[in-house]
Amino acid sequence: MHPMLNIAVRAARSAGNLIIRSLQHVDHLEITTKGLNDFVTDVDRLAEQEIINAIQKAYPEHAIMAEESGLQGDNETVWVIDPLDGTKNFLHGFPHYCVSIAIMVRGRIEHAVIYDPLRDELFSASRGDGAKLNDRRLRVTKRKELAGALLATAFPFKYPQHLTSYMATFGAVFPQVADIRRTGSAALDLAYVAAGRLDGYWEIGLEKWDLAAGALLIEEAGGVVSDFTGGDDYFNSGNLAVGNLRIQKQILDSIKPHLSDELKK
Ligand code: IPD
Ligand code: CA
Ligand code: CA
Repeated sequence: MHPMLNIAVRAARSAGNLIIRSLQHVDHLEITTKGLNDFVTDVDRLAEQEIINAIQKAYPEHAIMAEESGLQGDNETVWVIDPLDGTKNFLHGFPHYCVSIAIMVRGRIEHAVIYDPLRDELFSASRGDGAKLNDRRLRVTKRKELAGALLATAFPFKYPQHLTSYMATFGAVFPQVADIRRTGSAALDLAYVAAGRLDGYWEIGLEKWDLAAGALLIEEAGGVVSDFTGGDDYFNSGNLAVGNLRIQKQILDSIKPHLSDELKK
């Protein structure tokens, strides 16, 4: 295992343990509102600090882009951190959330870890080296058509202005597939596509820390990741469609005619 991936795994596990320990006092947590329907707790902040401490101990010169504390440092290697993806699930006792850490070198994601502390599932990937769930190699599904597919998606709860477009994309995809999940953790949705548990996924308006690790996992599991034009600017646009080559294209072809001009990127 690459030494940086090793540190990312250790950091993700210790943040995961902190999240599990804090479950005991989830009813007494102070919740701060960051934006419309967007919340943060001390658990998010403490888990993030745990990860940052582990990184800075090993690589003090590296830069950090973390959801709750922002950007730190200036270096060609940047650690992109979502300390708790699925905060709303966590707050409601809905058992589905994870820690997500990606390592970007000169603008390219090179290593990724997504850790589900409740199931003790560790998804990891290094560019060119494949993707794994614990010690098992991952492949995206081989499904050729949307018929029979199980997809995931997400509602634009932070962007009411996109609801009409989003509902139109949902209406276009839903009749073609077996069913669609909305799990509340984008990072786990992406890890599940890499693991072949879902055939594909699309979402509007993700942040860099939501998608960085999951995007590499999917590519290393043989899948395709793009923005809504079919290009690779998803890191900046936050609009994402993923799946195996054929499913990803069918999702894009289905949603494209329904996107507002603002979402055509
Ligand atoms: C959110 C979750 C959710 C997705 C949102 C994300 P958070 O992350 O991944 O599934 O729909 O776009 O912001 O706030 O729980 O870290
Ligand atoms: Ca997130
Ligand atoms: Ca988060």
